[in-house]
Amino acid sequence: MSGPGEVAVRVRGLTKRFGAATVLDGVDLDVRRGEFVALLGPSGTGKTTLLRLLAGLERPDAGTVLTAPRVTTVYQEPRLVVAKRVLANVTLGLPRSARDKGRRALAEVGLAGRERDWPATLSGGEAQRVALARALVRDPRVLLLDEPFAALDALTRLQAQDLVAELCARHRPAVVLVTHDVDEAVRLADRVAVLRDGAFAVDRAIDLPRPRDALSGTADPAVLEHRRELLTHLGVALSSP
Ligand SMILES: Nc1ncnc2c1ncn2[C@@H]1O[C@H](COP(=O)(O)OP(=O)(O)OP(=O)(O)O)[C@@H](O)[C@H]1O
Ligand SMILES: [Mg+2]
Repeated sequence: MSGPGEVAVRVRGLTKRFGAATVLDGVDLDVRRGEFVALLGPSGTGKTTLLRLLAGLERPDAGTVLTAPRVTTVYQEPRLVVAKRVLANVTLGLPRSARDKGRRALAEVGLAGRERDWPATLSGGEAQRVALARALVRDPRVLLLDEPFAALDALTRLQAQDLVAELCARHRPAVVLVTHDVDEAVRLADRVAVLRDGAFAVDRAIDLPRPRDALSGTADPAVLEHRRELLTHLGVALSSP
């Protein structure tokens, strides 16, 4: 937990069913302003469904979801409009007066000068940075990240993780990051939770100093212990230490 920020996400007894399947079964979750929570869990366990509920795109069958205003999601794919230039993608749906702010957001993600480029001319990493700028320009109090780095190559992924860590430290939204990458979760998050069988199987604070670079903690017994515990909860068989 990072500082005593106010609660920006409060979920109580959240239940979601699709047909006969109960995907979320009484989930509780609090995320404070400036707090970074990573969510792990096997495929099909309801992580995206939980984010969609937080974004107000799905309705709960039972329980409550309260969020601060301005919830923004970044997805695995950048979801850019191909017929609009980069800056127009960033300020999509916003008044023209948002363009200066859009330029500043692009500069923050390292894309100053690329305002008039077309999405088709961007690399995957650049396109994802445009998607981050599009989120940033909306001043999210709650930032939802659904496997935003999953489609990037390993090196670009590390750079994108650094960028997100830096942006979140500066703007301090409440963050919920869904990922399948235990190392990424331990590197970025203040708390890591594993969603399994409709509820959190584990919810752990990660008290490691920041900034955490790509190698930080790899030799730290506390980090190894976090990774071991999380992998075990994810059903990965490990040989003894
Ligand atoms: N609109 C829907 N209608 C019916 N079933 C759905 C719907 N949305 C999701 N589901 C089901 O709910 C379950 C959870 O899906 P969800 O997409 O939340 O999983 P996930 O944890 O994000 O998985 P992954 O790691 O593969 O992205 C799955 O069994 C899925 O088939
Ligand atoms: Mg998903």
